[in-house]
Amino acid sequence: MTTPVDFNDRMLSLGLARVSEAAAMASAKLVGRGDEKAADQAAVNAMRDQLNMLDIKGVVVIGEGERDEAPMLFIGEEVGNGEGPAVDIALDPLEGTTLTAKDMPNALTVIAMAPRGTLLHAPDVYMDKLAIGPGYPDDVVSLDMPPAERVRALAKARGCDADDITVCVLERPRHQEMIDEIRSTGAAIRLITDGDVAGVIHCAEAEITGIDMYMGAGGAPEGVLAASALKCMGGQMWGRLMFRNDDEKGRAAKAGITELDRIYTRDDMVTRDVIFAATGVTDGSILRGIKREPTHLTTETILMRSKTGSVRRMTYRNPIK
Ligand code: FBP
Repeated sequence: MTTPVDFNDRMLSLGLARVSEAAAMASAKLVGRGDEKAADQAAVNAMRDQLNMLDIKGVVVIGEGERDEAPMLFIGEEVGNGEGPAVDIALDPLEGTTLTAKDMPNALTVIAMAPRGTLLHAPDVYMDKLAIGPGYPDDVVSLDMPPAERVRALAKARGCDADDITVCVLERPRHQEMIDEIRSTGAAIRLITDGDVAGVIHCAEAEITGIDMYMGAGGAPEGVLAASALKCMGGQMWGRLMFRNDDEKGRAAKAGITELDRIYTRDDMVTRDVIFAATGVTDGSILRGIKREPTHLTTETILMRSKTGSVRRMTYRNPIK
């Protein structure tokens, strides 16, 4: 019998930063070129190559899709060189493919790693999300509250008026009613066209980003990535899966989810220590995007560990080969 290898998050995190840097560098040439697929593919290839160099026995639990839809980094794919600890991997090689293709803010490459069996296997369906930053009492807001009540409850907890609160929301027709309700309180809304992982992360650095709360429906896989980031930075998050048809319910069943209307907290989605890395592809409020010079590429990466709550920002300048 072999002895299980410890999840040495301290050492593994540096490798994880390389993985997200590589994906960002690979998509650099495709920023603003109008080709979402090519940008995503470049990031996927690079992320997979780097991931396979790490000393891990990894399994992709949040990835590019089901095996029959995604040839690489599909859910269940084994990654790493098979030498180290058994880990779950959640990734989005390019979070904001449209943002990248249009050279709009906040496109990121994102990856999280945790001991095997500790990340929620979220199916590729929507998730209703709610997130706030650190420093608030537990459950000061909830998914069961109407949007206006959430704003008022958060304002009360912050000791300010509702019109001092800013909520980040994905701009989608499905959110119009919610947007109207939030506005009825006097709160401000930062509308984003894509990229709700960054949207949620904004709440953890409210004094820098100006965003107090994130709410609305986006991808469930992105929800687990966002929960991983908040677990490192501090902050609360809740998510409830949303199903539009039987096929989507089938995806949940395949992922082992039976309680379809469950509200997952941040720690239900990420049950143990996690490490998280994201690299900016386009400039954003969390990270600078890739800078291209004739001879070099420079990236900025945020690397975090939930065990210590440490947040490291790294710039990497690399000659173009
Ligand atoms: P992609 O990078 O896969 O295009 O996802 C971008 C994104 O905006 C996510 O951040 C978000 O969770 C999801 O799409 C929202 O989905 P939809 O565009 O269907 O509203």
